[in-house]
Amino acid sequence: MSKPFDVIVIGGGPGGYIAAIRAAQLGFSVACIDEWKNAAGGPAPGGTCTNVGCIPSKALLQSSEHYEQAGHHFAEHGIEVKGLGLDVSKMLARKNTVVKQNNDGILYLFKKNKIGFFHGRGAFVKAADGLYEISVTGAQNELLVGKHIVVATGSNARALPGTPFDEENILSNDGALRIGTVPKKLGLIGAGVIGLEMGSVWRRLGAEVTILEGLPTFLGAVDEQIAKEAKKAFDKQGLKIELGVKVGEIKGSKKGVSIAYSNAKGEAQTLEVDKLIISIGRVANTTGLGAEAVGLKLGERGDIEVDAECKTNLPNVWAIGDVVRGPMLAHKAEEEGVAVAERIAGQHGHVNFNTVPWVIYTSPEIAWVGQTEQQLKSAGRAYKAGSFPFLANGRARALGDTTGMVKMLADATTDEILGVHIVGPQASELIAECVMAMEFRASSEDIARICHAHPSLSEATKEAALAVDKRTLNF
Ligand code: FAD
Ligand code: NAI
Repeated sequence: MSKPFDVIVIGGGPGGYIAAIRAAQLGFSVACIDEWKNAAGGPAPGGTCTNVGCIPSKALLQSSEHYEQAGHHFAEHGIEVKGLGLDVSKMLARKNTVVKQNNDGILYLFKKNKIGFFHGRGAFVKAADGLYEISVTGAQNELLVGKHIVVATGSNARALPGTPFDEENILSNDGALRIGTVPKKLGLIGAGVIGLEMGSVWRRLGAEVTILEGLPTFLGAVDEQIAKEAKKAFDKQGLKIELGVKVGEIKGSKKGVSIAYSNAKGEAQTLEVDKLIISIGRVANTTGLGAEAVGLKLGERGDIEVDAECKTNLPNVWAIGDVVRGPMLAHKAEEEGVAVAERIAGQHGHVNFNTVPWVIYTSPEIAWVGQTEQQLKSAGRAYKAGSFPFLANGRARALGDTTGMVKMLADATTDEILGVHIVGPQASELIAECVMAMEFRASSEDIARICHAHPSLSEATKEAALAVDKRTLNF
């Protein structure tokens, strides 16, 4: 048994590895245990995000967008492309290289910060004398002892009851990111974030894509006006989205998958596809963690119960990221990781849930922070709204990408910004200014009075702020 660590982190995804680094920066002795294996069986820290989530999906979104541009939009710029070809295996190999660069980067960061990395599954064994015993099994077998334990074991894709993932034809996010040839017909269940991002990748590469969504509204959590604008763009691209469906029996064969469902009118339908991606949300992962050995309390959905500060029911045991309540986002997991390390050090770590941005990396991108117009209405909050279309933005015209708008919502009396909603080019980058403004409790007038570079997409944010006061300059 080793000398006790001050902090043992179980899980090396964005929540866990960042918590480990911050704890090491604060002077603690730190171990991080992660079980993810690369194709050769070696360590692949970074969790879902790095291996089968944020990073590989963005790599494929980029590659497929280049293909789409070359095939359909270069001509507008006077660029002729002849003999355009597609090598999916090369595209996947590039994606794998990007993933590996990130895995290696995290291993380097562990070394740089003198964090003990253990490759294997971590599990609680027992609690005694104010310390916790944690076993590591798998590639490495060890028994570690720690004073503070941070659980960051993440989440897994939710399966439909009776339809397990085979990762050949019925795919989770994992299989969806390594389809070897473009399917002629691709089906997806769930028009949420993964459904739209993965649907976009394979549509751009030439698949006929149908997404079946259970709810009658499209992107219900997104500001209605923005969701409507996005839906228009997806319809135009040929991404077929059926809302209000009820999925019935799913039959897989060697040839493909057949999905029985009823449409919004209640009519029986069948969708035949070569591959099916199921993207209906994710479930917290506590498999093999040994929660019962120490009495760690789990919630009804299998998540770890924590308070607002990520404290569990056990002294000095914390939990962060996808395995606890709140949005399942990498940056939320990271913020909690930093906050917990600082709390362990007696500092006042803080996560502002009201300013956690969301981004959907489709084309156009969708990004938002704060409250939607429908949320403000149902809360009875008096607000002012201003919006500005990219159609009237010089940079967007030069880019040839004028879809969408920036929409700002501010308090009717104080003018404090309550939410910003963007659909359009580079929304993922534009939202950062809005997050910062809200973090500093800025008013829309503050943004309107800030000098923004010309020509830039960020001028649309300034104009949306001006629109709150009904004084846009360029529209
Ligand atoms: P995870 O990243 O899931 O990491 C948990 C780690 O713990 C894993 O490595 C796992 O193997 C390990 N582990 C689990 N149990 C044990 C154990 N007992 N012992 C040792 N190791 C263990 N979020 C964004 O913000 N932006 C995006 O663009 C984005 N894109 C996504 C795309 C897809 C396709 C998916 C599926 C998700 C995406 N997400 C995105 C969500 C994001 O990946 C998660 O919110 C994030 O990874 C959560 O981080 P985490 O550290 O809590 O857990
Ligand atoms: P999601 O919650 O975004 O979307 C799931 C969709 O499936 C919802 O629209 C839901 O109504 C629908 N659904 C659920 N059950 C259904 C059923 N039986 N039949 C038909 N439709 C059904 O979940 P998703 O897309 O699986 O992604 C999981 C999480 O991963 C996201 O919520 C997000 O937290 C994270 N993520 C983040 C990304 C980003 O930040 N860009 C990218 C991808 C994932």
